Amino acid sequence: MNTPGPGNDPLPPEIVRSLRCSVCGAPVGSTGRTVRCAHGHSFDVAKQGYVNLLHARIPAGTADTAPMVAARVDLLSSGVYLPLADALAKVASEHVEGGLIIDAGAGTGYYLAHVLDAVPAAYGLALDVSAVALRRAARAHTRAGAAVWNLWEPWPVANSSASLVLNVFAPRNAAQFRRVLTADGLLVVATPNPGHLGELGDLVISVDGGKDARLEETLGERFSRVERREVTQRVTLSPAQIRQVVEMGPSAHHLHRDGRRERLDAVTRSVDVTTSFSVTLYRPVP
Ligand SMILES: C[S@@+](CC[C@H](N)C(=O)[O-])C[C@H]1O[C@@H](n2cnc3c(N)ncnc32)[C@H](O)[C@@H]1O
Ligand SMILES: [Zn+2]
Repeated sequence: MNTPGPGNDPLPPEIVRSLRCSVCGAPVGSTGRTVRCAHGHSFDVAKQGYVNLLHARIPAGTADTAPMVAARVDLLSSGVYLPLADALAKVASEHVEGGLIIDAGAGTGYYLAHVLDAVPAAYGLALDVSAVALRRAARAHTRAGAAVWNLWEPWPVANSSASLVLNVFAPRNAAQFRRVLTADGLLVVATPNPGHLGELGDLVISVDGGKDARLEETLGERFSRVERREVTQRVTLSPAQIRQVVEMGPSAHHLHRDGRRERLDAVTRSVDVTTSFSVTLYRPVP
């Protein structure tokens, strides 16, 4: 992964060109720490490099919190989910030559950075509602930019601007996937399979669920599935990693229930677990 050095633009011009004003939909330009449209709507670029395009409040509990992001950073940096990152990078290198790659619900930008490494001519846009996560995503790769946005609202991105939309354990807005993708673009969705981290029992709650039927239903008539790859491995998680895996996901909101916090604190041994994901490729229906 690249670490931006001095002079690297937090919002590369290739990204700004694809952004649209979230108030009026007009193209935007970027000067210094401000992104602005011709109608005078302006948005701040934070000193950490992401632009905040939100202008409405979002429901509490939507964005990943600082402790969740910290746990995710620690777990991902230990390489436990590297096979998934490699699988996503492989798909991208096989199917995409360049252009804009949007990671919808990018979190810290871990997967986007791997994918950008595999497609040297591409630029990446990380969209997420968690500013805390985007502080990381904005610095995850020299060819990446990051924007705070609620994926359930129409995205502040031009029509037909993306060659690839990535969606890794994050909300799926099929209408926006379709609108921002080019006609020959690719949608790649990663979901946990049944049995993912099954050895941890109810310490881990998966709200995402990889149920094929539900995923297809969400994507409706806008996309057709072209391929599915499974990424399964056995790994040994240390007690610290078990805590990270629980604290980085939706389970973090439910630690007060059923004595989960006490049970988690009581884990003192490593556990062999199965991680299992589906990477599913979709093409827009003409
Ligand atoms: C389980 S995390 C996955 C993050 C990243 N894809 C990864 O796997 O490391 C889900 C992400 O979706 C974001 N998210 C949840 N609801 C969202 C929404 N309505 N709009 C934008 N992002 C949202 C969260 O802030 C979080 O970063
Ligand atoms: Zn505007």
